[in-house]
Amino acid sequence: ASDPKLFQPLTLRNVTFKNRILVPPMCMYSAKDGHVTDWHLVHLGGLASRGVGGICVEATAVVPEGRISPEDAGIWADSHIAPFRKVVDFSHAQGTKIGIQLAHAGRKASCHAPWVQDRAPKGTSYVAQKEENGWPDNVRGPSELAYHPKYPTPKGLSIKEIDDVVQAFIDGAHRSEAAGFDFIEIHAAHGYLIHEFLSPISNGRSDEYGGSFENRIRLLLRIATAARAAWPNKPLFVRISATEWVEGPEKEGNEWKQWGLEQSALLAQKLYEIGVDLLDVSTGGNSSHQKIPAGPGFQVPFAAEIRKRVPGLAVGAVGLITEAQQAENYLKEGKADVIFLGRELLRNPDWPLEAAKKLGVKLKAANQYERAWYKL
Ligand code: FNR
Repeated sequence: ASDPKLFQPLTLRNVTFKNRILVPPMCMYSAKDGHVTDWHLVHLGGLASRGVGGICVEATAVVPEGRISPEDAGIWADSHIAPFRKVVDFSHAQGTKIGIQLAHAGRKASCHAPWVQDRAPKGTSYVAQKEENGWPDNVRGPSELAYHPKYPTPKGLSIKEIDDVVQAFIDGAHRSEAAGFDFIEIHAAHGYLIHEFLSPISNGRSDEYGGSFENRIRLLLRIATAARAAWPNKPLFVRISATEWVEGPEKEGNEWKQWGLEQSALLAQKLYEIGVDLLDVSTGGNSSHQKIPAGPGFQVPFAAEIRKRVPGLAVGAVGLITEAQQAENYLKEGKADVIFLGRELLRNPDWPLEAAKKLGVKLKAANQYERAWYKL
């Protein structure tokens, strides 16, 4: 039997990930004014020392009003760099690559952390009010369409403000470089600002940023092009939602009704031409009417289809991937180039060591943990 693909290295633009297991961005709701804390060092450091090939730090806001919650990480100020640097240095000392997801939450900003939402009567507590460190009056989107009646109604960005957002992503890329990150991921998924521009459901603009497919993808193409120029030598990832899971077709006659796989594949080709190295293929998050048929690997077919249609573009699969053999099969069958494992790694940070054992190989991780798996 040939060596498992899961444990073969992957090189993108001079950065080599030691294996194909990546940690997807996961908000920890534990930052202070955007600064990552000891929580992040311990949490991400723990993952870095247990054998993953790479980590993507949580959605990190390029402007303060672009945070999902008041406790989100940020990178809008130089003071954010030093605490990131500690996490990056520790990760590198473990032989683990680490990147950062640059984000703007758009119309889904100023919300509570999920466990705060859980504590309140159902549906009443999405929004972090001013007295709770929120900014419900300063929430931005493509146009004045709210995600849900219980969410803030966004102000549509002016052309000048769109230019400022693009600049904020460039500044974020430069600060990411100063912090020592190995890759950047642009968050264009899950109903946050860039996805809101992509989708006819959330983009009510009638200028050059709304309406046609070309207009709706314009903001992302601008940001990706600018990020590529500001970050020329290291991998650039983009995360998209390849479908919105809203009932009805993606296209009716000549009219796009919602964002979906057809537009995602066309977009992926353009991102590839700009120099994006990897597309991280997720789904959903832009409509409160979505119906997600969640199940093992339910988003993998979208990754696989895009990978087939855009040869050369590396693709990441994510979503309810939990078993070593399952992950290995997706790679062997050519459905993806890397596997992102989210909640499974929260439940079991030693998953990579255990998976290596199951697939019959030894994985190099921190001596302190590795011996617990291989020296009995
Ligand atoms: C997430 N997810 C997520 N996605 C993203 O693009 N940026 C983010 O900051 C977050 N934050 C986040 C926090 C937490 C606690 C969870 C559980 C998830 C989504 C995540 O990256 C991943 O796509 C999903 O969790 C699906 O993969 P798993 O968990 O089924 O492997």
